[in-house]
Amino acid sequence: MRLAINIDHIATLRNARGEQEPDPIAAALLAEKSGAAGIVCHLREDRRHIKDNDLARLRQAVTTKLDLEMAMTSELQQIALNTKPELITLVPEKREELTTEGGFDIVRHFAVVTEFLKPINAAGIEISLFIEPDLHAIELVAKAGADIVELHTGRYALLHDKAKAEELTRIREAAAYARSIGLKVVAGHGLHYNNIAPFREITDIEEVSIGHAIIARAVMTGLDEAVKEMIRIIS
Ligand code: PXP
Repeated sequence: MRLAINIDHIATLRNARGEQEPDPIAAALLAEKSGAAGIVCHLREDRRHIKDNDLARLRQAVTTKLDLEMAMTSELQQIALNTKPELITLVPEKREELTTEGGFDIVRHFAVVTEFLKPINAAGIEISLFIEPDLHAIELVAKAGADIVELHTGRYALLHDKAKAEELTRIREAAAYARSIGLKVVAGHGLHYNNIAPFREITDIEEVSIGHAIIARAVMTGLDEAVKEMIRIIS
């Protein structure tokens, strides 16, 4: 199973000071060097973390696979066509949300999304849709012309005990169905060091997309060295 890393939080931290550091592009290169199979960034309509210039620089720097997460707007469609990431992931987007809170509603938007994806497909960019693990929705993802389905694991991450096990079964069945109709399968959202293990058994899922857990862990594992380095300088 491959790991794609979402680097949006690095940009959030940088933007807190409005300066240059930490640089999401440097973080992307480090993640690639450490074995990440792809770099994911979400250019939100409000540009709250990744900015247009970050995306342009990421396009230049990333050598594995750049995945642009985006909402279904004509502005983002044009940016995708100009930037040519290897992959776009269509996600729903609400301004007030802290993170992508649910899957893309393919049932409601099927006709519009099918048209929206045509030029992106024609440009040779792979297409993924981020949806809840629902069989009918997966069927529509394939019909809309996407190559990949990313199953939303946010509910799995939040649930406990029996409900968590049931949600995992839903994800496993959704992944098997998606593969059987020719889609590649990715999973993401809320995956963590302490809840990822069962995914190793789900062989239909070929990649996981993780941001928060890894960036949060990196801060804590890196703090020790960062403090010591400063103490060495001032001593
Ligand atoms: N996949 C998609 C489509 C997302 O929107 C996000 C969150 O930005 C992730 C994966 C990663 O989620 P997390 O930050 O919880 O690992």
